[in-house]
Amino acid sequence: MKIRPFAVVLALASLISIPAFAEEAAAPETKSLYDRLGGEPAITAVVADFVGRAAVDPAVNFVRAGTPKPWDPTPEHLDTLKKHLTQFLCAATGGPQIYEGRDMKTVHEGMQISEAEFGAIAADLKASLITFNVPEKEQDEVIAIVATTQGSIVEAPASS
Ligand code: HEM
Repeated sequence: MKIRPFAVVLALASLISIPAFAEEAAAPETKSLYDRLGGEPAITAVVADFVGRAAVDPAVNFVRAGTPKPWDPTPEHLDTLKKHLTQFLCAATGGPQIYEGRDMKTVHEGMQISEAEFGAIAADLKASLITFNVPEKEQDEVIAIVATTQGSIVEAPASS
């Protein structure tokens, strides 16, 4: 049987093109979480809803009543908190923003935040993500990022 060089080239090309097509089909998956959430406008809206929710959640005690580090939720303080939280989440999900706030350990040190309070605030964030129709996959990815801060934030044991 006579092998035509052209046929060989075609056969090889088809082998090479299969992974190339597969890569193309997977391209949407490579979008950053930041882009899949809808970028800064979407994250700003989620943060506003989330701060409103967490600030009045008794299971969170956001103002740290009864602790050595009570927090006064003045409009100015709330604005700074929302600005920094938005920057923090934008940067952590792959956005171009620079986080200008303090690091998580320094900010929350002495607030005596318990594991239960951390769990309650994570639930408030999830509720906000659901309110804005964020798909479950992206919800889970945001919560997983927030969970990485737990070691720097939680000081008090779960039972307290
Ligand atoms: C029960 C859990 C939490 C409580 C009670 C809490 C409480 C607070 C309070 C009172 C402040 C204001 C501090 C100040 O301005 O002096 C603050 C700031 C902040 N928190 Fe939390 N927090 C909690 C969990 C979290 C989590 C899970 C994150 C990360 C996603 C986070 C991110 C931030 C950021 C970015 C700031 C702004 C820091 C700055 O302005 O320098 N917090 N938090």
